[in-house]
Amino acid sequence: MNIPIAKPFLGREEEQAAVSAIRSGWISQGPKVKEFEDRFAEYTGSKYAVATTSCTSALHAALAVSGIGPGDEVIVPSLSFIATANSVLHAGATPVFAEIDPETCNVTAGTIESAISAKTKSVMPVHQMGLPVDLDPIMDLCKKRGLLLIEDAACAVGSEYRGKRIGGHGNIACFSFHPRKIITTGEGGMVTTNDPDIAARIKRFRHHGMSISDMERHNTNKVIIETYPDIGYNYRMTDIQAAIGIEQLNRLQFIIEKRRHVAEFYDKELNDFSCVRVPRVPAYAYHNYQSYWIELLDSSPISRNVLMQKLLEKGIATRRGIMAIHMEECYQKYKVSLPETERITENTILLPLYPSMTEEDPAYVMQSIKEFLQ
Ligand SMILES: Cc1ncc(COP(=O)(O)O)c(C=O)c1O
Repeated sequence: MNIPIAKPFLGREEEQAAVSAIRSGWISQGPKVKEFEDRFAEYTGSKYAVATTSCTSALHAALAVSGIGPGDEVIVPSLSFIATANSVLHAGATPVFAEIDPETCNVTAGTIESAISAKTKSVMPVHQMGLPVDLDPIMDLCKKRGLLLIEDAACAVGSEYRGKRIGGHGNIACFSFHPRKIITTGEGGMVTTNDPDIAARIKRFRHHGMSISDMERHNTNKVIIETYPDIGYNYRMTDIQAAIGIEQLNRLQFIIEKRRHVAEFYDKELNDFSCVRVPRVPAYAYHNYQSYWIELLDSSPISRNVLMQKLLEKGIATRRGIMAIHMEECYQKYKVSLPETERITENTILLPLYPSMTEEDPAYVMQSIKEFLQ
């Protein structure tokens, strides 16, 4: 048996789409990016979608075009991939770490409120591992305190909050298409928003601050001399990536259903084990299970790292649970104590979960884990 932690779900359609984009003669940001953006906006129920090179660049762009920079604070969870906090630093602002609710591994309105100061300009909750945060109280808090809500939805494509897909709730949401995510374009990201001004500014920001896109200039028979009203970056997705992304969107429902099926099996198998805790999904959420974690409790007969090693020896790849950013060397000057975050990061494991798992794969994972937990 050789079971990886994740596997992108790509097939002939993606292959052909990439070939067609190459043969079209337009491989940088062009008509396929526009089509992918339109499809993504429609899927998430948001008015605008703007494709980028990654979720990190999407988050950076979202902060920068919103005027968040030096002297401003942005509230983020520490229990997240490091890019969440890095993007705040890329914008020149300061990340302030909020505690999580250990039941969901997500920040809450309460933990965010405790981190607000006079310098807070924005709140950046993460729908960690695809499980939506409880958005309503966070949106109320942001409205009351005049804060911009930017959702780090890197893992949350297709997840729902109170029956509505993630992407159309806060001011801005940013998604990732890295191969460990629900759908992939190799690397890639997307911003969604209902604000036309934000969408227009992000389009310029990703294109060196230029006043017009290459495609618009190409499609007109009038000479256009571009201008550069703002400083920007090259955060453009290519048409080859977008062509793959469109095919991935066609598979999205199937991918999520498969993931939920495996997660349900893991839940059922592990429920009776008093030494582990499995994810709890609140009634407001529809979970895409971008990742599936378990927490080893004090009564576990085996430590987290030893269990990971033993599973690896049986051909099962796992990963440590989500990192705690404030514990990493490059964030040590941010002296905070976040006991729940620290406990969760040290005692959790991510289990293999991907749509092409056969029925035997998750069964083998469970059989092996139970062997070590008994
Ligand atoms: C919560 C979170 N935010 C941001 C990112 C960064 O995404 P990308 O690799 O597309 O820049 C990730 C990726 O792992 C993530 O999990």
